[in-house]
Amino acid sequence: MKLIEEEKALSSPGAKIPYYPLAIARGKGAVVEDLDGRSYIDLLASAGAVNTGHCHPKVVQAIRDQAEKLILYTPVYMYQEPVVRLSRELVSIAPGPHPKRVFYGLCGSDANDGAIKMARVATGRPKIVSFIRSYHGSTFGAISLSAISLPMTRSIGPLLPEIFHVPYPDPYRPPVAGMTPDQVSDYCMEQIRIAFESSIPADEVAAFIIEPIQGDAGLIVPPVKFMEDLRALCDRHGILFISEEVQQGFGRTGKWFGIENFGVVPDAVVLGKAIASGLPLSAVVARAELMEGMEAPVHLFTAAGNPVCCEAGRATIEVIREEGLLEHASELGEHVLGRFREMQKRYAFIGDVRGIGLSIGVDLVTDRDTKERHRVAASKICYRAWEKGLLLSFFSGSVLRIQPPLVITRQEMDRALDIIEESMEEFERGRIPDSVLECVKGW
Ligand SMILES: Cc1ncc(COP(=O)(O)O)c(C=O)c1O
Repeated sequence: MKLIEEEKALSSPGAKIPYYPLAIARGKGAVVEDLDGRSYIDLLASAGAVNTGHCHPKVVQAIRDQAEKLILYTPVYMYQEPVVRLSRELVSIAPGPHPKRVFYGLCGSDANDGAIKMARVATGRPKIVSFIRSYHGSTFGAISLSAISLPMTRSIGPLLPEIFHVPYPDPYRPPVAGMTPDQVSDYCMEQIRIAFESSIPADEVAAFIIEPIQGDAGLIVPPVKFMEDLRALCDRHGILFISEEVQQGFGRTGKWFGIENFGVVPDAVVLGKAIASGLPLSAVVARAELMEGMEAPVHLFTAAGNPVCCEAGRATIEVIREEGLLEHASELGEHVLGRFREMQKRYAFIGDVRGIGLSIGVDLVTDRDTKERHRVAASKICYRAWEKGLLLSFFSGSVLRIQPPLVITRQEMDRALDIIEESMEEFERGRIPDSVLECVKGW
């Protein structure tokens, strides 16, 4: 297609991870349409950024109303109602009973940079601990926190100093075969204790920044015990526990924030993606005293927290509440897990099915014992699903990413699952040609 060729010629290849040649024209709810008028059910929600669905009428109305009044007068200099209205909502839905404060940005990445700054200022300590195979974004701070992909870091260094990575507990691919989830948790905690005794003095650590479910690593759900033990460790050493909710927040897991599934109260949450249903907005919401030492202009952006994005954010929260999307995500998520577990009985290449709410991963393997990632299966199944009218992608080379808009109906979801099943069957029978692999780069 001419448009695709033209974009390829004009844009930097460093900003595109192609799955199939789709040129999108419009979207409504959980369905998008391409330039030729073909419809697709969307299981990707624009990388988890449109939990209320594409162009939700309430969100569109809020954007339109605000755009007619004022698009931007930088909140850095002026006070305005939309900022206060959204902040009021954010401090009320963020976990924990303590007083909270908020700062805004434009994307998940810059929010992570802000969280690093806040933690260093609040504790007077330089070190930040993050997790191997985490993805936190593309600014220098966020890249430094991340540890998932060599092309992210190769040739662009040096990265931010004083950031350390420790293992994240992965119950499906444990460090030692046969470990139970709690043993995996204990193993990872032990690695942190060893690091604290040997190379990372605990009293120099400002914060752990952790995804409640490790998203781009392939939707790794940690054991509850790990989060509890990490919280206890943080309390013992005066370290902040910061939950990085950019992908798992805003109802994705059936709770407002992913960390609420683990019964642990964080000191701060990092928000992005779905917060404003697709408009560029991010935020950090933290215990009030953690922000009190932050002196301007330590973290501000001209257009961050602009009134149009804030109104979209407020409407997003309203839609999630009014339409019961948290409950819907939990109920539908259970149904989806059940259907994939049925498929797992038939297809040996489905190694694991996991997730919470509508944040579900289906891990494809060449062999259930070795758990070797099946990139070919993931690529071919996603490509064939696209040809059949479904937007599906994968993480970490092998994990089908099931993160639809939370407004998706049971009927749409069942149709999407039927398409995946048909595509799996065609893959099993060798009916998807190798030629599709040239197009799918994937993540
Ligand atoms: C967990 C997580 N953190 C941060 C980011 C970065 O967000 P953004 O691309 O909006 O900067 C992402 C994006 O995929 C993410 O999944």
